Amino acid sequence: SFDFIRKIQRNYGMKKIVILTGAGISAESGLGTFRDEGGLWAKHRIEDVATPEAFARDPALVHRFYNTRRAQAVQAQPNAAHLALARLEAGFDGDVLIITQNVDDLHDRAGSRNVVQMHGALTGALCQVCGFRWKAPMEMRPSDTCPACKKQTTRPDIVWFGEVPYGMSVIDPALASADIFASIGTSGQVYPAAAYAQHARRMGARTVELNLEPSANARDFDQRFLGPASEIVPRWVDDLLTA
Ligand code: APR
Repeated sequence: SFDFIRKIQRNYGMKKIVILTGAGISAESGLGTFRDEGGLWAKHRIEDVATPEAFARDPALVHRFYNTRRAQAVQAQPNAAHLALARLEAGFDGDVLIITQNVDDLHDRAGSRNVVQMHGALTGALCQVCGFRWKAPMEMRPSDTCPACKKQTTRPDIVWFGEVPYGMSVIDPALASADIFASIGTSGQVYPAAAYAQHARRMGARTVELNLEPSANARDFDQRFLGPASEIVPRWVDDLLTA
C-alpha cells in the first residue's frame, strides 16, 4: 500500500524528490532496453558501438547505430509514466528533479522541465575539436562538418562507456538533499547511477524502486513497486500528490 509515503509526508515534511530513470520507463513507448531479453546489447556489442574507441575505429558504424535509435526516438511518444512524472513536477509542493540515463527526449516531450540527461541526448551533436553543440540532423555521417569550426569532427552528443557523465555538479548536491530518491526502469548495473540510491539513503533520503523486477541494487531501496512503469508510476505519483 502507499501508506508508507503518507507517513514520510507527515514525519519528514517532504521537500525534494529526486528520480533516476532508465530504459525501462521508455520500453512501453516502443524503445528497446539494453539488458532485457532481445535488448540492444544482445544485438550489438558495446565495444563496437558505445565507446570512444569504437567511434575512432568505425565512425560510420557508430553513426548508423545512433541514426537508427534517433529515428525510433523521434517516432516514439511519451507514455503514462513520463506524463505522470511531468504532472508530479507541476503539482508537487517542493522540488522534483529527474536524472535520466536515457538519451531519448520523452521526459522533455512529456512536459518535465527539471531533467538532467546524464548520458547525453540523441537530439544532440557535438564537435570533438571546438566543443560546439547543436541539434543533430536525423542522419549523422562522418563527413558532416561542425557548423562552428567547419572541421569534419562531429560526433553524437552521447556519453559512451568510459566517459564522464553529464550533470555531476547538479546530481551530487541533489542526492545530498533528497527527501525521496526514486529509481524507475533501470537494472542498476551501470555506475555511477547505480550508486545513487545508496548515496541518497546515506544522506537521509527514503529510497523507492519502481521497476518490472528487482534491480541489481535492490538492497538499496526501502520500498519497491513492481510492474510496468505505465501502471505503477501514475499510481505512485497520484499518491504523492494526494497525500
Ligand atoms: N516498466 C518498468 N520497468 C521495465 C519495463 C517496463 N515496461 N521494461 C523493462 N523494465 C526494466 C527492466 O526490468 C530492467 O531492470 O527496466 C530495466 C532496463 O534495464 P537496462 O536495459 O539495463 O537499461 P538501463 O538500466 O537504463 O541501462 C543503463 O546502460 O547501456 C548503458 O548507457 C546505457 O543508459 C544505459 C545504461
